[in-house]
Amino acid sequence: MGFDDRVRTFVVGGTSGIGHAVVEALQARPGEIVAASRATGFDISDPAQAKAFFEQQGSFDHLVITAGSQAPGGELSELDLTAAKAAFETKFWGSVTTVQAAVPHIRPGGTITLTTGFLARRTVPGTFVKTAMNAALEATVKILARELAPLRVNAVSPGLTKTEAYTGMTPEARAQMYQGAAENLPAGRVAQAQDLAAGYLFAIDTPSVTGTVIDIDGGALVA
Ligand SMILES: NC(=O)c1ccc[n+]([C@@H]2O[C@H](COP(=O)([O-])OP(=O)(O)OC[C@H]3O[C@@H](n4cnc5c(N)ncnc54)[C@H](OP(=O)(O)O)[C@@H]3O)[C@@H](O)[C@H]2O)c1
Repeated sequence: MGFDDRVRTFVVGGTSGIGHAVVEALQARPGEIVAASRATGFDISDPAQAKAFFEQQGSFDHLVITAGSQAPGGELSELDLTAAKAAFETKFWGSVTTVQAAVPHIRPGGTITLTTGFLARRTVPGTFVKTAMNAALEATVKILARELAPLRVNAVSPGLTKTEAYTGMTPEARAQMYQGAAENLPAGRVAQAQDLAAGYLFAIDTPSVTGTVIDIDGGALVA
């Protein structure tokens, strides 16, 4: 489906980081883009807000969800299970809730693109919450691609990406993390949010792509 003035795209998580880069990339095209997040009054972990948001907005074509949570790390013996469940509640159940509320309003030819993360398929001790949460979403994408067809449903899986998600770190720790990753990744660099945006546009634009996960991770899964 080509883009014209009538095409409407919603980016949930579009106020920061990867989602904001998707919004900027789409702004180069005709059509309307709506960026939503808690900053605009939409919390994906609240089913009532999701339902009200889509009912108020009316019909649209493309849904991108990049909203995600900080997930606690550490080995299971020391894991804060309350924080782990809260992370799942936001990213996994929040994505599912948002899709369920959105689907009745998505026009024929539309797409849904979720966001996972490279740890879904990489075995790193101490990261099981991120692994489980993102792997659950990847499994869900495949089922939804069948259930919701002919709507197309995909995910983009980022590796380490320079975004506001890391503003809580000291500048020194952040620079060290980026440098270490760049040295170890086959691509030799840490992704910018714009690199990721290209994946969402590919999922939206390519009519034969559904039920798939697009890895944009600098080669993290083969390193
Ligand atoms: N950056 C990385 O290295 C990396 C790596 C792997 C996977 N990912 C995944 O990529 C996605 C985007 O990450 P990012 O780095 O772009 O993060 P980010 O810069 O922190 O942006 C997250 C966005 O999600 C929104 N959000 C968070 N919680 C929300 C909620 N409960 N309801 C609605 N919106 C919510 C935030 O806005 P508000 O605060 O206003 O709600 C913000 O717009 C996440 O799912 C993350 O897990 C990122």
